[in-house]
Amino acid sequence: MLKESRDAKGKTAYLILDGTTYELPVIVGTENEHALDITKLRRETGYITFDPGYGNTGSCSSAITFVDGEKGILRYRGYPIEELAINGTFIETTYMLIFGELPTSTQRREFRELLCDQELLHEDLRHHFEGVPSNGHPMAILSAVINSLGCYYPDLLQIENEDEFLRAAAKIISKVRTIAAWSYRKAHGLPFMYPDPKLSYCRNFLHMMHSIPHRYFEPTDEQVRALSLFFLLHADHEQNCSCSTVRMVQSTEANLFASVSAGICALWGRLHGGANAGVIKMLEEIHDGDATIPDYLERVKRKEFRLMGFGHRIYKSFDPRAKILRQATHDMLESTGYDDPLLDIALELADAALSDDYFIERKLYPNVDFYSGIILRALGIPVDMFPVMFAIGRMPGWIAHWNETNTDGTTRIHRPRQIYMGESTRHYVPIEERK
Ligand code: SDX
Repeated sequence: MLKESRDAKGKTAYLILDGTTYELPVIVGTENEHALDITKLRRETGYITFDPGYGNTGSCSSAITFVDGEKGILRYRGYPIEELAINGTFIETTYMLIFGELPTSTQRREFRELLCDQELLHEDLRHHFEGVPSNGHPMAILSAVINSLGCYYPDLLQIENEDEFLRAAAKIISKVRTIAAWSYRKAHGLPFMYPDPKLSYCRNFLHMMHSIPHRYFEPTDEQVRALSLFFLLHADHEQNCSCSTVRMVQSTEANLFASVSAGICALWGRLHGGANAGVIKMLEEIHDGDATIPDYLERVKRKEFRLMGFGHRIYKSFDPRAKILRQATHDMLESTGYDDPLLDIALELADAALSDDYFIERKLYPNVDFYSGIILRALGIPVDMFPVMFAIGRMPGWIAHWNETNTDGTTRIHRPRQIYMGESTRHYVPIEERK
């Protein structure tokens, strides 16, 4: 069911099947996207549609984020990503994505205080970290501990009102930093650093990652700003795979902790949130002389593997986040004097691909993951933590979408159909008669 969709006056789609003509209502979104409403198709025609990977299928209507892949447009609640990148912060953007409006100064202060109150983990949760091997992947820890939060807040497993939603959301947004930082500390045999309520969201995360007892890590303002920008640019991206996973899990009325945990697992894949780590691995191979850029691109064109950080299901032009990150990476390295040869290789590789017909014909451009890893390296984040950083940034989007589908009153459990291509009826054969 769609709300506030403008009728496409005078536009009707006709489907002619087996001599019968069916009318399909045309729905128009606020940015003039057009859709055929097929909600009655099977009931009226007996047919279903077939769209593996859902490249042509709208699973819902949403008012959170708009992406125009042809024009390289990304807006959170109508605000262009370029304006948010210059003027906004991650926490302000988090509030806006979840509640729909930029916060007033009072709302922002109260939101910050709420997050601050929620930053500690229940001490019993420390045992989760003791139970995993030091080489356990931090995404496995993150999804497990986020899901476990529900054990400590059973009253928030069935959210009945806005206050319960706000408390659950604040717990996840605030504690995800502590969980992420502690998974890093555990892996490196370092003592857990507790969050410091005097520090801002991003500064606190860097403190928990890099401070040691009696010696606080003091990030520069540029590093804090770069981390806030990194999280802001990853905060939402409409119906990407992990967001659709969160919405699908919510459609069963599963709780917020479980739904977000499922989103983390979907994000882990190397074609999604794992790509930023794949980009660094690729750039290091080229830097270490294991491959030259022309060789690498030739192997991609022979389809031996894909160029990580390139291509996108929606963007068939530059990912606006990649443009912003390319400039921010350059500025940060310049201002901090941190010299990373991988940036020069990334720029050279992008130029080579963008002038190669193979990539031009397939409309393959750098996506959000192509430059993001270099910023993370400059912040002292190890590669296996890169998808975790993506997950921290994407929390507000997942939570906003969970709330949208949980409150819109028309959500049906997601249950796609299929075209069966297996065996027709056959009968049981006793084992002694099997050949
Ligand atoms: C994210 O959906 C989102 O919004 C995701 C995201 C978000 O914010 O949530 O933006 C974050 O996941 C960004 C993408 C990160 N992944 C990567 O960088 C991995 C590399 N990229 C590709 O695997 C690929 O581009 C995808 C997965 C991102 C998109 O896959 P599609 O839309 O299914 O691409 P496709 O298979 O339809 O590709 C069309 C053609 C194919 O060639 P032909 O069969 O026509 O010859 O383009 C080729 C593909 O082989 N192709 C690539 C390529 N991506 C697509 N060839 C080389 N390198 C690539 N990266």
